[in-house]
Amino acid sequence: MTRILRVNPLNPSVDAIHEAARAIIDGGTVAFPTETVYGLGASAFNPAAVRKVFEIKGRPSDNPAIVHIASIEQLNDVAAPVSDELLSKFKILWPGPITFVLKGNGKLPKEVTGGLDTVSVRMPAHTVALRLIEAAGVPIAAPSANISGRPSSTLASHVIADMDGKVDFILDGGNTIFGLESTIIDLTKERPRLLRPGAYTVEELSKYFEELDTSDIIISANEAPPSPGLKYKHYAPEKRLVVARDAELMVEAADALRGKKILFICSDETAKLLPSGSMRLAIGSRSDLYRIAQNLFDSLRKIDRSDAEIAVIEPFPERGIGLAVMNRMRKAANMLTADSVESIAKLLG
Ligand code: TXA
Ligand code: MG
Repeated sequence: MTRILRVNPLNPSVDAIHEAARAIIDGGTVAFPTETVYGLGASAFNPAAVRKVFEIKGRPSDNPAIVHIASIEQLNDVAAPVSDELLSKFKILWPGPITFVLKGNGKLPKEVTGGLDTVSVRMPAHTVALRLIEAAGVPIAAPSANISGRPSSTLASHVIADMDGKVDFILDGGNTIFGLESTIIDLTKERPRLLRPGAYTVEELSKYFEELDTSDIIISANEAPPSPGLKYKHYAPEKRLVVARDAELMVEAADALRGKKILFICSDETAKLLPSGSMRLAIGSRSDLYRIAQNLFDSLRKIDRSDAEIAVIEPFPERGIGLAVMNRMRKAANMLTADSVESIAKLLG
């Protein structure tokens, strides 16, 4: 049985937090909102509880989970000591949508770390998440609260669709703020390395990590993935999704392929230019990429629920939060892009 509790994201009731924290302490699983996406959490020091999280997600055990902490002091419980210089950076960047891969201290179970000697740690900037970790009194291991391979959950309804009946608690704090997972930086190598572009933009981060190596995010097929999670299929809807060359092509295709079952996922601006009768999902203004980011995963989930045969999505500039938006979008589309009306038509059965 899953208990679903609605909470005010800015001021969650003490009772709700304590009930959910009790479940964590007792070895249960709790889905909770963070500023990025919903997490599916268990006590980081309870191997059996963490195994449950992986089972519920259908996630391979070699793909480690992020450990969520609520204070800098808790860092010592999960990671090897870091330099004062790094610590001062963490104090500036946390709480926030950024995860650091650090050397472990050997105390976390292999269920959390996937057997690696490193650990990824994040202090989320969301009142519900912070209160839950505080009340539980332990760091919480939490991957994103979605079935492996599906888009991360940005609404409690996504969590319910994926895991109702399997998790003990769902704290429903409404829509998440960024709607994309945290940025991940590996600090265990000589040079800080970007493993996943995310909610915290690379432009802002380079102020704190001048030497930031971003070369990994152009994923080369032949290389071993830098992060265990990168080798698995991600975010993909069951129906075919293709990234259009640009908005103009979408309008052209919608015109030429009238009556075909195509869902156009696009900016508000493009939605206005599509011929009437075409199936469309407007996900925000082009001038507000944060809104687009917030709506992206929900729009991907809507593809399979629509009666469209395929979906075509609009690309956005790969700057700021747009870098993470395009990273998730291209993965969801399995790197499939369309540069002509014909290439879109070919995808139709
Ligand atoms: O925003 C987020 O980061 C959300 C919220 C819930 O905090 N969590 C999240 O977790 O996205 P997850 O498990 O879906 O993605 C974490 C990624 C995985 O790709 C995993 O392989 C990678 O982080 N990762 C975890 N520990 C790692 C480590 N020690 N070294 C390298 N990559 C690691
Ligand atoms: Mg995930």
